[in-house]
Order: sequence, then structure tokens, then C-alpha cells
Amino acid sequence: MASKVTVIGTGNFGSTVAFILAMRGSCHEVVLHGRNINVAKGKALDMSQAANAAREHTIVRAAEGPEDMAGSQIVVITAGAPRTPGMSRDDLLTMNAQIVKKYALEIKEHAPGSIVIVVSNPLDVMAYVVHKYTGFPRERILGMAGILDSARMAHFIYEKLGYGAGQIRATIMGGHGDTMVPLPKFTTVAGVPISDLLDSEEIGEVVKKTRDGGAQIVNLLGDGSAYYAPAKSTAVMVDAILKDTNQIHSCAVMLQGEYGYNDIVSGVPVMIGANGVQKVIEMTLNDLQKTRFKKSVASVQEMVDSLCKTDFFNDCEGDENA
Ligand code: LAC
Repeated sequence: MASKVTVIGTGNFGSTVAFILAMRGSCHEVVLHGRNINVAKGKALDMSQAANAAREHTIVRAAEGPEDMAGSQIVVITAGAPRTPGMSRDDLLTMNAQIVKKYALEIKEHAPGSIVIVVSNPLDVMAYVVHKYTGFPRERILGMAGILDSARMAHFIYEKLGYGAGQIRATIMGGHGDTMVPLPKFTTVAGVPISDLLDSEEIGEVVKKTRDGGAQIVNLLGDGSAYYAPAKSTAVMVDAILKDTNQIHSCAVMLQGEYGYNDIVSGVPVMIGANGVQKVIEMTLNDLQKTRFKKSVASVQEMVDSLCKTDFFNDCEGDENA
């Protein structure tokens, strides 16, 4: 079967996701769906030509309208306002909730069998919005962030050590926000616990840098947020689904009793394959880790509650298929 991925949003993030997929020949067709059709068309042509240069078969097309996402196995939502300096991911809440809601309704209508990857921020809440407005089962809605945050943590560990690049497996749970939960106890370099390589002060610095990793890039760029690592992390998820790898990645999913939480989205280890979420993995956490995770879940819940107060969810039909 021909594989098709729609990427919603043609900004830096969406374009880079599409470009990585085209350069890897991850699927037969990538559809770029954005507000400015000419920009989408120009980028699609450019990327299709790049795929030829790379000797890959992927065709990138621009969507003329939402109906062009029909038949997609995966739809990636990157649309939304990016962060600017001084703005937290959460400041984007109301603005992006409206944008994501619009696209969730389009997906429900035109790609009802697709798996949705949400990367618009604040992404745990945006994944929740997609749940409510598509009514898709939780297996088919994933938020990207754990892979990105783990990659950032791995980078900062490498910066401290000066070796081990590509061998660092860093573990992160919780929301993609200031309360994310880096887990140094589950972090290794080629199997060696980082506590054997760095002292606790150094590990503390790594954790802080990881939490601030997105903001650091926002401040340097001046007018937008990071997109290379976020796009690559998204492409890793697309590949895991299309190749049915059943590999474990930290992703944001709707919790249904796992870790003691219900009806809230947070980042946890997930087995990803052809059906999307194949399994949510429950790790044994110590008391400190549980407390941090609780705080992170609470911060996502607060944002959901503040959307509820504006009657945002009043017109959604809920999880009819859940
Ligand atoms: C970041 C944005 C993508 O963390 O959330 O860079």
C-alpha cells in the first residue's frame, strides 16, 4: 500500500519534518497542508526535486484543501504560533488551541483512519484538544516531545563528558514544559549509569539545561523556536509507525489509569508501531520521581481547566470511539 503522510503547517518545523521524510524515502507521498498554498507548492516542488537528488522515491505535494489529506496513514500537526523570546510554551495556549481544534475537525472529516502526531505547543494540551475534537481512540493520538527532550538531555551530557555522543540514552517523562521530568537514574552512556560519570551537581546542571533547552534556542534565534531536533524527533515517530518497529519512545499520550491518572495527556514510555500506541509502559518510579511526575501532570491539567473555563470544549463530541 502506498504510504502517505500529511504535514499540517509549512513553517520551519513542518517543512523540516517533510524534508527529513523525503530525504529518507520514509513514505511514498508527503502532503504539505498550510494556509499559504503557494508557499506549500513552492516547498513541495523544492523537496520533491531534492528527493530526486537523493535518489529517493518520495513525492511531496501541496494540499489544495483539507480533502487532500484523505488516505493519510499519519497526519502531523505542527501548525500554531511559535514561541518568541520571553514567552513560555503555555503562553501559546488559547491561540494554538483554536488552530489545533480547526485541524482536528478537518482530520476527523477527511482522514478518519489516520494516526495523529501533535507537536504544536503546549503540546500535551494540544494532544488533549485533538482527542476531544477527533474522538479518535487514544492509540491514534501521540504528542512528540519525549524524544526531543531526551535528545537535548543527551546533548548536554555529551557537552559535560566530551565523549559518548550517539551512545547516550536519556530518559524523560511528563509534559513538554517547565515541569518536564528528566530521569537521570534511568540515563546511561553505553549502559554505564551517568551517576558513575558525573557528580550530582553536574547532573543537576544537565537537568536544568534540558528543561531550558527550548527557551535557550528561542532566545538565540530571536524570532521562532527550534525546529531541526523537533522535526527529527517527529520523523523518528513517523518511521516507527510506518515501519511498525514496536520500539519504545517517550511520547505524550492520553493516560487511562496508567501511573494513576485518567483523562489527561502526559509523556510516558510508549511502544510505537503500525497501530500508533501499541502499549503504554509503566515504569516503577521512586517517591521523588512520582512527585515530580504528579506536578507535571497537574500543570497540564491546569491548562486544560483554564480552557474549560472559557467553554472551549463545549462543542466537542468527546471520545465517542474510545
Ligand atoms: C522546543 C519546542 C518545539 O522545545 O517546544 O523547542
